[in-house]
Amino acid sequence: MGILETAKIPTGKVEHEYYGTTARHYDAAYAADTRLKDIPFYVDVAKSVNGDTLEVACGTGRILLPTARSGVRIDGLDFSPDLLGILRNKLKSEPEELQDRVLLYHGDMRNFALDKTYRLITVPFRPLQHLFTVNDQLAAFRCFSAHLKSGGKLAFNVFYPNFQLLDEVGVEKVELEWVDPQDASITVSRSFLRKSVDKLNQFFEGEFIFRSYRGEQLINEERSALNMSFYTYPQVLLLLKTAGFRVKEEYGSYDKEPISVCKEMIFIAEKV
Ligand SMILES: C[S@@+](CC[C@H](N)C(=O)[O-])C[C@H]1O[C@@H](n2cnc3c(N)ncnc32)[C@H](O)[C@@H]1O
Repeated sequence: MGILETAKIPTGKVEHEYYGTTARHYDAAYAADTRLKDIPFYVDVAKSVNGDTLEVACGTGRILLPTARSGVRIDGLDFSPDLLGILRNKLKSEPEELQDRVLLYHGDMRNFALDKTYRLITVPFRPLQHLFTVNDQLAAFRCFSAHLKSGGKLAFNVFYPNFQLLDEVGVEKVELEWVDPQDASITVSRSFLRKSVDKLNQFFEGEFIFRSYRGEQLINEERSALNMSFYTYPQVLLLLKTAGFRVKEEYGSYDKEPISVCKEMIFIAEKV
């Protein structure tokens, strides 16, 4: 499988990414992230396609739920039972007709097999950056192709690798802060600490550090691993071409700036 199986895992009390602590804080953290402006883009893509959508790596439904609320039939697949559990609970308080438009699957984007094909597959908010070898990346793109109808579309994004930022190893940075939705007297902050970078294989290892404060007093600290690969633009083009896709649209931001602005790399590709 991925190269991380043999990579040194950070020591200390670190949980698997997207389980436990990260899952518990996921919605509150990203609700506080004012830089994240991807929801209207993915909802619009899904509405523009005449047919069912599959969101691969749907997480807690941050994008899946608004898409379903817009009237689209959308299935979701993710490999974290914790995130899927949060989404299942949220679905329970949605109207029955919306619940009927959504099916959830537990699976791995490299090798899932559903007996269904879609007009659109979306992979929003960088899940492909959790695949660490060319084999795994290609397996995922081929799996997407196998689940698309002829002429079906694939929409996804990965970040543009900011090489200056990637050089910042061992520096902890506070990224987000929010009020604990369970207890308004608690403020939670999330930092990211990059622990190592493998520039040849294009991935880094790091961890999220969640600190909870009551007033000025630190009352809890939890850590979760966050390891990510990064892609160059020609690498994405080659993966798409090899898996039988043609790029239809590409953007550098959710304001649809040209991809050459080198911020985010957002693609809409078509199954050839
Ligand atoms: C940054 S989150 C994005 C979640 C959601 N799309 C969103 O926009 O909020 C990355 C997601 O990728 C999922 N993931 C990572 N590796 C995966 C894999 N091999 N197969 C399926 N899901 C995976 C994680 O569980 C997590 O839900």
